[in-house]
Parts: sequence; structure tokens; C-alpha cells
Amino acid sequence: MAVSWYVVAFLAASALGASIALSYIPYPLRTPSTDTNIKISRIMRHLIRVSNQQVFEKSACGKVWVTVHSPNIRLPGGGNLLDAIELNWDFSTCSNVPKQIGLFNNWPLSWNQALAVFAVESAEGFVITNISLGDSKLPAGWDIGTGLKGPHCLWPWVGAGDSHIRAHNCLKIQPTWMEDNAERINKLRIGDLAIPGAHNAGAWRFDTEISTLSRDSFVLCQDRSIWAQLVHGIRYFDFRIAYYDFYPREEDRYWLNHNLIRVRPLVPLLREIRAFLDSTKEVVFLDAHHFPMGFYHQNGAPIREVHMGLLRLVQRELGPHIAPASQFATAHGTRGPTLQTLVDADRRLLFSYVDNNIVAGNRWLWPILPHLWANTNSPVELFQYLDRMIDSYPQPSARSPLFSAMAQTTPSVLDIVLLRGSLRDNADAVNRNVTSRLTSRWRQRANIVSSDFYLANDVIDVSIAISVERSNRL
Ligand SMILES: *[C@@H]1O[C@H](CO)[C@@H](O)[C@H](O)[C@H]1NC(C)=O
Ligand SMILES: *[C@@H]1O[C@H](CO)[C@@H](O)[C@H](O)[C@H]1NC(C)=O
Repeated sequence: MAVSWYVVAFLAASALGASIALSYIPYPLRTPSTDTNIKISRIMRHLIRVSNQQVFEKSACGKVWVTVHSPNIRLPGGGNLLDAIELNWDFSTCSNVPKQIGLFNNWPLSWNQALAVFAVESAEGFVITNISLGDSKLPAGWDIGTGLKGPHCLWPWVGAGDSHIRAHNCLKIQPTWMEDNAERINKLRIGDLAIPGAHNAGAWRFDTEISTLSRDSFVLCQDRSIWAQLVHGIRYFDFRIAYYDFYPREEDRYWLNHNLIRVRPLVPLLREIRAFLDSTKEVVFLDAHHFPMGFYHQNGAPIREVHMGLLRLVQRELGPHIAPASQFATAHGTRGPTLQTLVDADRRLLFSYVDNNIVAGNRWLWPILPHLWANTNSPVELFQYLDRMIDSYPQPSARSPLFSAMAQTTPSVLDIVLLRGSLRDNADAVNRNVTSRLTSRWRQRANIVSSDFYLANDVIDVSIAISVERSNRL
């Protein structure tokens, strides 16, 4: 173990980059072919994956992490700085706080290599650098399809320390985190996992006849494709689906919306989820959370044919992966199937549906997933609400084993009319607190935490750590 740790660390530190280390090291271990050797090689690979995670993220105490600033920054000379890198630290548990923190474009070894260095003047905090993430191509082959398993770093790294760097981390993708941690977390029930989610996941860039806009103040809640969200580690999607009968082909009529605004057609997004499920062992939770248009009669009764059309499309695109509730649901008030059950059956897509009338007639659908929605534009009220609600969930007789904390504020009509702020500003006002709440107060009970602009918080890595921690307690 000590040797492999050293080799991994060495390769990660070399110009080859850490992702090469993972694929490179197991190679000599593959040559012997006896059972024992295969077993050893499997164990080694597991250890290497574990140490790889430690290489990426290491700290004697406390923690540093990289995020992406969600609002645009207006530069003094005119122009905009988009996707500025933020460096975050929490040394509140440490006896002494490092003096400085820096941004690096590789594994941080010495301060000479830093792109920017900042003094650390408080036990916890953050700085917004003036360096942009830029073109954030997904590493390790994930940009064009299925890449290498395990976590991999994008270019930005953070390091903190005094004369030498004693804490570091990178901005990661976690494309296979459930499989990477399977030996531990597979025994958890889905309601006992911590699951990183994307609020309004389809609203990431317009794709309509009239617009391909990628930055819009009050409509877009995300800025990565569904594929990229999955590769980053998001496993829960909150979809708002609308129906427009003016398209001749039925499958073109289903769209993802933000309220009444059409953002992207549904079918291509389902195909991205399909491609991901086809090539990984991950479990994905899809939630039809709201039908803002075309699914209901004026009197509130569902338009059955429109709902059925949607269900046919989801069956057609995702069918072989669907875990029917009729087969996998457990009794009311329990936490659902274990990950192991879903992985063993190779049924890894759970589709929950916000209309229990439709669920009643289509037993493969999972019942309404409770959404803890504060419906406020005040960050203070949001956290008061979520603190209270997360404490009282899961409810003892809940039909759904899951529940989702909606960790974002909602602009008021007046905010929108007066163009007061933007969803990016709103996300910025809460995302750091979402990270710290999940680390502390919500740590024991939170299930799904869905946020806007998730690169601006650390919910993915924190959720993985919490899931592992919960499984260790079983
Ligand atoms: C960016 O920040 C550095 C300090 O980290 C400063 O020296 C430089 O002038 C800034 N550049 C711009 C364009 O603001
Ligand atoms: C968010 O966290 C900061 C730093 O801990 C704190 O000062 C602020 O009051 C928090 N905001 C909310 C709305 O809880």
C-alpha cells in the first residue's frame, strides 16, 4: 500500500497528470493470470482508486476546494469575466490556519508555480480569482464519450499552507462515483444516500427556433449539458416538462421548460441519460417535477393522452434501464431498495412522477417525490426553512423513499419585472452556505440536495463523502 501510494503520488505529481496514473499503474499487475493474482490486482486497483482520491484531495486538517463563480464579473476596463475560479477553505477544526492559498494549473508542489496567491486571514472563507475556468473540456475521455473510471481533475487546483503546501484539491469530475465506492455504499438504501441534484436540470441553454442563448438572467438554472452534469457527478434531475401540440411529430412536442418558457426539446436529453446509463453502473434519479404547460385541462384534470405520450417516450428511450416501482419499491415509510439491488438487477433509472393519479395507473412510476421548496427570495428564510424541514424528514409514512431539498431561492415576480438580480446572483448568495450546511447541520439527514449552478458549491464531493460515511455506520 505504501509503495502504491508513493507511485501514484509520484505520477500524479509528474507532468503526466493524475488521470494517467490511474490507468497506467494497474497494467503490470494484469500480466499474471492465476486467480490469486487477479484477486490481488483487483485489490490493488481498488487501493489505487482510493489513494487516487486522496492524491486529488488531501489535507492534514480542514479542507480546501475549487468552485466556479456563477455571476459574470464586470471588469473595470469593460468586458466580462465569466466563470471566475473561486478558492475556498475551511480550517475551523485546525489548531493553526495556513497563511496562504493559491490557484495552480497542476498538482501544487511549490508556490513558484502558483497562478495567483492570496493571504488567508480567517479560519474559513473564499476568494474569487480573476482567472476564468475557460473552456472546461471534460477530462479523461469524457468529453467525447465514456472515459476512464474514477475521479479526474479539470485544470484548476488549489493549494494552501505556509512555506510548504499542506492541503490541496482540484476541480473534479466524478463520473463513476457510485461504482468507485460500490463496496461501501451499495448496501445503503436509496433514501439513505446523499444525492447531488440539479434543480431545473434541463434549463442550461436555449435550443429553440429563436434562441440558443446560454446566459439568461431568470430562466437558465444550469450551464452544463445533462451529459456533463452526469459526468460531474449529479445523479438527480428535476425536470419541468411541457407539451406543445403545434409540432407535427409527437416526440417533438415534449420540451423542458422553466415555468412557461420553452428551453430545450426533451428527447435529446433523454438520449444523453441513456448513453450514460449504457456505459456506466451508476444509478440515476429522474423526476418529472412539474408540468407547466399542456398536460392539464382547465379544470385541473390530467390530459391522459399527453401524459401517456410522455410515458411512451421515456419507455422508448430509457426502457431497459428503468427500475419499475412495482418491482423495487419497499413499504411506505421505508427507505427503498439498496443500490446493490438496483445494480444487481441492472435497473438503474428511477422515474418519479408528480401526479399520483397517473402513478396509480402506471405502476412502474415512482410516487411524488417530496420537494422541500421554501418559495422565498430571501437566503435567510431559505436556510431557516430547510433546516426545519430536513430535521422533520423523511416522514414516517412517506410513499416516496426519497426527498429533495431545493437549495435555491426563487425570485419574486417583482424581481423579474424589475430585472432585480439574476438566478446567477441568487445562486451565488446561497451556494457557499449550501456547502457548509450539508457538511454540518444537514449531514445526518439530507437525501437529495438540488441546487442551481452546482459548480459554485461542493455538493457533489460532500455528498459522496457523506454517503460513504453513512455506509460505514451500518
Ligand atoms: C488579477 O489579479 C491579480 C492579483 O491576483 C492582479 O495583479 C491583476 O492586475 C488582476 N488582473 C486584472 C485584469 O484584473
Ligand atoms: C452564509 O454563511 C456566511 C459565512 O458563514 C454567514 O455569514 C451568512 O450569514 C450565511 N448566510 C445565511 C443566509 O445563512
